This record gives sequence, C-alpha cells and structure tokens, in this order.
Amino acid sequence: MNETSRELEIGTLGHIPVLYQEVIAWLHPRPGGVYIDATVGLGGHAAGILEHSAPDGRLLALDIDPKALKIAQQRLASYGERVIFVQGRHIDLAKLAHAHGFALVDGILLDLGVSSMQLEDPSRGFSFQAEGPLDMRMGAEGPTAAELVNTLSEEELAHIIHEYGEERFARRIARAIVRERPLHTTKELADLIAKTIGRRERIHPATRTFQALRIAVNEELFSLEATLPQAVELLAPKGRLAVIAFHSLEDRIVKRFMRQESRNCICPPRLPQCVCGHRASLRVLTPKPIRPSATEVAVNPRSRSARLRVAEKLGPEGIGA
Ligand SMILES: C[S@@+](CC[C@H](N)C(=O)[O-])C[C@H]1O[C@@H](n2cnc3c(N)ncnc32)[C@H](O)[C@@H]1O
Repeated sequence: MNETSRELEIGTLGHIPVLYQEVIAWLHPRPGGVYIDATVGLGGHAAGILEHSAPDGRLLALDIDPKALKIAQQRLASYGERVIFVQGRHIDLAKLAHAHGFALVDGILLDLGVSSMQLEDPSRGFSFQAEGPLDMRMGAEGPTAAELVNTLSEEELAHIIHEYGEERFARRIARAIVRERPLHTTKELADLIAKTIGRRERIHPATRTFQALRIAVNEELFSLEATLPQAVELLAPKGRLAVIAFHSLEDRIVKRFMRQESRNCICPPRLPQCVCGHRASLRVLTPKPIRPSATEVAVNPRSRSARLRVAEKLGPEGIGA
C-alpha cells in the first residue's frame, strides 16, 4: 500500500466530521448552489455539501495542507467536475475564489483547527501524546514550532503561551523552555512542561502550551480575522457563512465579527449621532453557538469543544436602521 492510500484509509475511515448534520442543515445546500469549503480537510463536510447539492451544485475545496487535499481529492473523485480543489490559505480566499470563478456563492464553511489525520500523524508534531519533531505547521511553509521555541525571547514565549494558550503558568513555562533549550521533539517539550508545572487538572499540562504554539506557528487568529470579511464579500444575498471554532479565542473572533456585521452602526454608545456609516451585511442565525450533542461527544470526544455559528448575508437593502 502506498503512502497516500494508507493515509486515505486511516484518514477517512477514522474520520468523523464534527457537527455534520448541523452544518448540512444550516448551510442547506441545494441543487445548482455554489459553495466553498475553505478548510476541506479530509472532505467529510464537503461530501455532504456535494451530496445535498446534487446533481449540479459546485464546490471550491480549499486547504493549506497538500496531504489533506490529496485525500479529499480521492474521496470526492466521484463528484467529477462539480468540485475544484485548490491548495492555499483561507486568508487568500477572495483572490482564490475569484480566480476559479466562485464569485457570488450560496454558502461558505470554515471548520477551523487540526484534522484527525494531522493530529494523529506524529511527524506533524501537533500532539504531545507521541514523539515527533516540533513542527505544527498546517502547510509546508513558514517557521516551525521548534524555530519559535528555540529562538524567541522568554518574554515573547510567555506572551504567546499566555495569550494563545490562556495558560496561567506561562511565565514559568517560558523560563523553563529558555533554560533547557534547544528542544527538538514534542515529547521533550511536553515532559519539560509536566515537570515544570506538575499535573493539576484532568487535561495534560502541555495542552495549553501546544495550542498556543500551534496558533502562533500558523498565525491562526490573525488569519481568521482577515478571512471572515472576505467570506462575507463572496456571499450572495441569503448565502450562509458557517464557522466551527474549537477554542474560545477563535469563537470570540467569530462571535464579535458576526455581531458587528449584523449592526447598522458600530459607533461607541457615547456618540449622540452615528458617524461610522457602517451598514449591516449579515443576519446572525445562531444567537447561541451550536454545540455537539452528548451522543456525538460520546462517539467523537474531539468534538467536545466545537461551536458552530452561522450567519446569512443580507441583500443590498440591508436591515432597517
Ligand atoms: C478540522 S479540519 C477540517 C475537516 C473537514 N471539515 C472534514 O470534514 O474533513 C481543518 C482543516 O483546515 C486546514 N487549514 C488550517 N488552516 C488553514 C488555512 N489557513 N487555510 C486553509 N486551510 C487551513 C487544515 O489543514 C485542516 O485540513
């Protein structure tokens, strides 16, 4: 078995798309509809979108990770020309969508985070459970986690671990890293953190630091903030944007963005009169995020932290002031 077919087997058999029914119900794909899955991963949600938009709905399937894209391509091969695969970052969404003729679309999905294939592959360095290089890059470019850990100052590391990991022992961890580096593997880092702060909770003591480094390596929050407005621009009136976030930092960005874009004026409340001229472009369809059911969490524990938010693009008339 060659590498790709083995990955295909591991990836797709063990792969359960998070909040699958909910995503399909909210995006509500229809025949002839045009969709973008900006984080196609192993193609689970994409398959659903294509299935529900049969016989002629079209999908732009984007992912930064060439390995994931290859698997999605094989998995979705039977949909033929209805699906176009593009390797790239969702921060370039508008440019990539226009380049492939996806201008006014009916739905866009962003399923943020790491796929099960990425997480379970020790060579990618996302998991502290297995020995692997400290890499953590979603794509093939940019600095690795090892480069950050071994070159940033103690202050910079503490800042990243505190901000992106919401880790209260960030300073202590940063100090230990700087003292013990160079660090090259996931195990070295995970063991150092466990030794430094001890085991205080149910989760592994390295969980928050690994999350922080992954966010920093992939510039995840910055990238999400830059992608959301592009997604809204690409939507046709009544088109829907669905975003699944896996931690509170991401979810907060999505929540604030959708809330702001659903208001006509975003001036500070103290101003007697509107000076911003901002017009609402979205209607929020999920005032509270949609969470996985207890059954889904039991079958797929990784879905536990997922939160889905959905908004609908307003027409040119917007909402009443
Ligand atoms: C949680 S998985 C998506 C799973 C997918 N919904 C499915 O059903 O298989 C997230 C995917 O987003 C991709 N990704 C992460 N950051 C990205 C970025 N900046 N641009 C494009 N894709 C990205 C990852 O490579 C990964 O394959």
